[in-house]
Amino acid sequence: MSITIKDHNVFHLQTDHCSYLFTALPTGQLAQLYYGAKVNQNNTFQNLATREWHDSTTSVDFDHPDYQKELIKAEYSDFGTGDFREPAFQITNPDGSRITNLNFVNAKVVDGKSRLAHLPSTFDENADDAQTLSITMEDKPTSLKVELFYTIFPHQDVIVRSARFTNNGDDAIDINRALSAQIDLPDHDYDLITFAGSWARERHLVRRHLFPGLQGVESLRTASSHQENPFFMLARPHTDNDQGAVYGFNLVYSGNFSDIVDVDQFGTARVLTGINPQEFGWHLKTGSSFQTPEAIMSFTTNGMNQLSQQMSAFYQQHLVNQRFSRELRPILINNWEATYFDFDQEKLMKIAHNAHEVGIEMFVLDDGWFGHRDDDTSSLGDWFVNEKKLPNGLQPVVDHVHGLKMKFGLWFEPEMINKDSQLYQDHPEWMIHVPGRPATPGRNQYVLDMTDPDVRDYLFTKINQIIKETGLDYIKWDMNRNITEMYGAQLTKQQQLEFSHRYILGVYDLYDRLTTANPHVLFESCASGGGRFDLGMMYYAPQAWTSDDTDAVERIFIQDGTSYGYSPNMMGAHVSAVPNGQVGRLTSIDTRAKVAFFGDFGYELDITKLPADELAAMKKQIAFYKKYRPVFQQGKFYRLVDPFSGDHNVAAWEVVNNDQSLAIASRYQILNHPNPSYLRLYFRGLDPKKAYTVNGGSERFSGDLLMNAGYFVPRILPAGKEAPADFHADLFVAKAVK
Ligand code: DGJ
Repeated sequence: MSITIKDHNVFHLQTDHCSYLFTALPTGQLAQLYYGAKVNQNNTFQNLATREWHDSTTSVDFDHPDYQKELIKAEYSDFGTGDFREPAFQITNPDGSRITNLNFVNAKVVDGKSRLAHLPSTFDENADDAQTLSITMEDKPTSLKVELFYTIFPHQDVIVRSARFTNNGDDAIDINRALSAQIDLPDHDYDLITFAGSWARERHLVRRHLFPGLQGVESLRTASSHQENPFFMLARPHTDNDQGAVYGFNLVYSGNFSDIVDVDQFGTARVLTGINPQEFGWHLKTGSSFQTPEAIMSFTTNGMNQLSQQMSAFYQQHLVNQRFSRELRPILINNWEATYFDFDQEKLMKIAHNAHEVGIEMFVLDDGWFGHRDDDTSSLGDWFVNEKKLPNGLQPVVDHVHGLKMKFGLWFEPEMINKDSQLYQDHPEWMIHVPGRPATPGRNQYVLDMTDPDVRDYLFTKINQIIKETGLDYIKWDMNRNITEMYGAQLTKQQQLEFSHRYILGVYDLYDRLTTANPHVLFESCASGGGRFDLGMMYYAPQAWTSDDTDAVERIFIQDGTSYGYSPNMMGAHVSAVPNGQVGRLTSIDTRAKVAFFGDFGYELDITKLPADELAAMKKQIAFYKKYRPVFQQGKFYRLVDPFSGDHNVAAWEVVNNDQSLAIASRYQILNHPNPSYLRLYFRGLDPKKAYTVNGGSERFSGDLLMNAGYFVPRILPAGKEAPADFHADLFVAKAVK
């Protein structure tokens, strides 16, 4: 058994390398004891549960003066009865009071893990030894039941938590906050590592030491956002990619989130993650329940590469659509940066034809194929073909692409509406707005009320019809503005704070209906690049457009940052034209490809205008990627050199296959320096005993040599060979030999 209950009150959750321990106190509260490296079950854990009475704060009750909520390391904390830190939840009771005192009722362990209804969630459908513990707590005066769920996924060292509130009282109550998970760490000697950015520079690593008080990241955009990502880590100060203790937390959620660390007066660090309490509320009628999204927690003592790898393995087995987690993703060409809105049937067919010639496997028609859309001012919502551009409809283009034995993908932005559209003429009431107030535009567009089932029915019918009629293989689901005027015309006054959460539930519902009706269609999510790059989306759409910034140098940082919390095959990575559209930088097509290989590879440029030498280069790149695609998309990913530290001039990555017979390492150098230093590249994750060749050379290297002594990288090349310049990239293919 991996979950044990000792003496009816000590809960020990063990994964292959971790232990998570908590206890039910005699006063009824749940107290955390430990989360970290695995410890023996034959302990009483009494010492960890001891208390020190502090004169300066309140006690749980008169009979237990030394049980003081402010000092208890709690499992799921309330507010108003002595714990003055950030609470995990808060309720407004029928009498207006906001006091809830949860007491332990019982615990149950079951094998496996079921999916949640109406929310993306983790699962254990391949019998990977998951077990679920549910703890029932009750607030006696109001008959509120709170269940805390813990699932252990032992082989990936992951614990998944969530909470469910059920109102068994006689009157409605309001949930003011309901976070998904809480950890009260006994000290705060940790660095908080988050991933911040903006449009075109998403998920740059930010590392700072915890300080007394509140810190954290959040979104109030009804999307996880470009600015912050729900994934974060807490690492000991000496921890790096290769060693040290680190916790990772992520949310299976795409809406407003809050990741909070509250370092209290006694130096303990409370960690909370879940739906952002601001702009949230839930009116819970008697007899009904509210389920929080799931939070994912993982821990290792072996550094951040190990953490990323175990979380990545976990997502692929227990979160993303299983049909696609094992399927190799197609190499695509997308027409957006080639044509923007300006294309016709002939142009599209030519792009597809030339793409086929070089070995590309999928053609994606981006924005502008519908309504009368010639720019970004019109037609969102009008999901019928733009007859001016495509007078014969989509079918000839789709048939042409399929005739080339390529897949066909199509762009949609389902959640949006332009005022200049047929849909707005027909249903102005479907646009999110507060009656009597102007609605805030963004990219000339507005947002559909996804809480309204009629809106979702319309979108499902239109999109499903196009999928079926034209035979789509792939959909890029974009979302190019955030939500303002959070107001639901369908919701009562008491429910208005539910709007943002209900909006995301509506998005999930549409995703669920479309993916269920069309199981063969691969969805890629997108939000002006990587503005909704999160695990909620990944459940339905197993890959996402990482960023609108395809400059190779910028992408090193974006993909490196993203790789801490997400798998390589979740990241769409394309080679685009130079000078780069976002930064004007000139990089070689070689460097651009060597960065984009470490994701779902593709091109986003006008292939009909490329010179012969670039086409020849493309052909080689595609053949190379096809040969090594399984290791690029499904191998273990290592960050060898971190671009966010040092002089920010070098990054290096590596992917290794399952049996360690193949590894591909990359090294990127942004600016070149004259008279360069001596250089070795250190491989990781090889079999120390296997012999390898590197880049097809004749010398044989043992795995331990390549990992410990490293591999010499020549910087001054023989005459006639092009010397490394700025924005240079190298690949090193290590193959095991007999
Ligand atoms: C934003 C996306 O990130 C781009 O790739 C492209 O699809 C445009 N939207 C189209 O409007």
